Amino acid sequence: MRIVVMVSGSGTNLQAVLDAVRAGRIDVEIAAVGADKPCRGLERAEAAGITTFLVRPADHPDRTRWNRALQEAVAAHAPDRVLFAGFMRIVDAEFVEAFRGRIVNTHPSLLPSFPGAHAVRDALAHGVKVTGVTVHEVVADVDAGPILAQAAVPVQEEDTEAQLHERIKAAERQLLVDALGLLARSVPAR
Ligand code: GRF
Repeated sequence: MRIVVMVSGSGTNLQAVLDAVRAGRIDVEIAAVGADKPCRGLERAEAAGITTFLVRPADHPDRTRWNRALQEAVAAHAPDRVLFAGFMRIVDAEFVEAFRGRIVNTHPSLLPSFPGAHAVRDALAHGVKVTGVTVHEVVADVDAGPILAQAAVPVQEEDTEAQLHERIKAAERQLLVDALGLLARSVPAR
């Protein structure tokens, strides 16, 4: 399964996928890694010798054209699936349509609880005792697509947002690699 991975941040999820691919644990080829801004995730890809690309909103006159440029950059690598691994941008319906049913996102909560950019903070503020991580298919509505896999993470009494997010990310890396491994056994036709 050829994938393009999109990142915006530290890229620890990407690293877990890179390591699993390199170790031959999943039948996945990372065709390229893209980002919306320079970030550690891109550096990890470069260090692994993977092709990278950067499509910055600031380099485009509006969101529509940024989305189109991103779509073209991803499509150029002819992926079977597109993975959003800590990609902190919302893509438009045209992008979703271009890769319909083939975009996978990882989100640090048990969706449909706590969608959005502050899932860990929101879960803590709500006082839930269990949260977790969701790997799901991307549809035009944010954090709303069919759920592919989930893992629960207990909240501890004194958790800060950063501590809880670190434990979620440990579960997330494992879940994401396992989910990709399963998806690789059923690659959809392009
Ligand atoms: C992950 O928890 C992801 O779900 C969230 O941001 C974090 C990204 O981590 N949206 P990293 O860049 O993979 O280290």
